[in-house]
Amino acid sequence: MLSRIDHLGVAVADLDAAIALYAQHLSLPIDHREVIEEQGVEAVALTVGESRVELLRPLRPDTPVGRFLAEHGPGLHHVAYAVEDIDAALARLKADGVRLVDEVARRGLAGTRIAFVHPKATMGLLTELVELPAARKERA
Ligand code: CO
Repeated sequence: MLSRIDHLGVAVADLDAAIALYAQHLSLPIDHREVIEEQGVEAVALTVGESRVELLRPLRPDTPVGRFLAEHGPGLHHVAYAVEDIDAALARLKADGVRLVDEVARRGLAGTRIAFVHPKATMGLLTELVELPAARKERA
């Protein structure tokens, strides 16, 4: 069901400092930058081989990433796995009784469809499933 690690999500308070670290000092190319209002984040994705690091800055304190930062401080927020068919993956997890944050896929960064599995079901590590736009086109 999972084909590879698509990205690691990192919660940051200072996006410019995080970009300086990853893009400048660690020399990762910036792949994408986007404000996702419905998730309350500004996200910057940097490419590492076939995967990415996703820097997440909360737009407001009363957002999931804002609350995470207040509670834990900056750091690893989630791991995201690529899936071929996110609807099928969610249906299977639901049938298995695995607790989900998103029972229906929603819009992610750069035209992806995403869904989060509940951290209570994943030993505390928030886990995201990502269906890339290319996977959807191939199936259509
Ligand atoms: Co993510």
